[in-house]
Amino acid sequence: MASDDERPRRRRVKPADASAAPSKAGLTERVKTARGRKTASTEWLKRQINDPYVRRAKAQGYRARSAFKLLELDDQYGLIKKGARVVDLGAAPGGWTQVAFERGASSVVGVDLLETAPIAGATLLVGDFTDEETVEAVRAALEGGEADLVLSDMAANTTGHRPTDHLRIMSLAEAGAHFAMEVLTPGGAYIAKVLKGGTENTLLNELKRAFKEVRHAKPPASRADSAEAYLVAQGFRGRA
Ligand SMILES: C[S@@+](CC[C@H](N)C(=O)[O-])C[C@H]1O[C@@H](n2cnc3c(N)ncnc32)[C@H](O)[C@@H]1O
Repeated sequence: MASDDERPRRRRVKPADASAAPSKAGLTERVKTARGRKTASTEWLKRQINDPYVRRAKAQGYRARSAFKLLELDDQYGLIKKGARVVDLGAAPGGWTQVAFERGASSVVGVDLLETAPIAGATLLVGDFTDEETVEAVRAALEGGEADLVLSDMAANTTGHRPTDHLRIMSLAEAGAHFAMEVLTPGGAYIAKVLKGGTENTLLNELKRAFKEVRHAKPPASRADSAEAYLVAQGFRGRA
């Protein structure tokens, strides 16, 4: 699996209170190791079952626990403006698209290697964002308009080999950044999943030239034992 998020579900979206961190008290369940199930998948299952964000996502109708990461980032940095046009790279199963609409976006163009079940108002494409054809399709879906916010939660399947995983995630963040710099409206923002302590200087310097503020963020919903972090670039200076 590419992410540590919950598998796709179709449920009604209810408003979320991202400020209240879920409590784990008294809720831990044990998972029996089934014959034939590898320890790693038993561990994954145990973590899913006992993860308070997974429970909350289910209860509040989000398709993935990652929805809380965007809610928390938005609470902290005020990213999703009323009426915003949003691009969601690595959109499946749709948690961030749900949050974008809930927080006031007027349109979302999403793309993923996997199909994302429909969400009213969203244009959801299937394709590999590292292919120029897919990038063109996303640009075309914006119908010549600019975007106010480009989100990238793209993550390739991990190999367990840190340098390889690092290169893969950074090349996705870079592809998203270059796209963002082409389509963002002045003042717009770009968010990308990266690995902690690992944003290449070249990308960081490029973003610092193009945006007024660039920071790394680790929202509480991002698992403490994961090297994942987010790059938050705000105040796009516009194209020369
Ligand atoms: C962590 S999940 C995204 C979860 C999503 N933000 C949500 O809230 O539902 C990462 C996604 O990135 C997608 N992805 C990875 N590489 C990609 C690529 N080259 N092009 C498009 N999507 C990609 C994966 O298929 C996966 O669905």
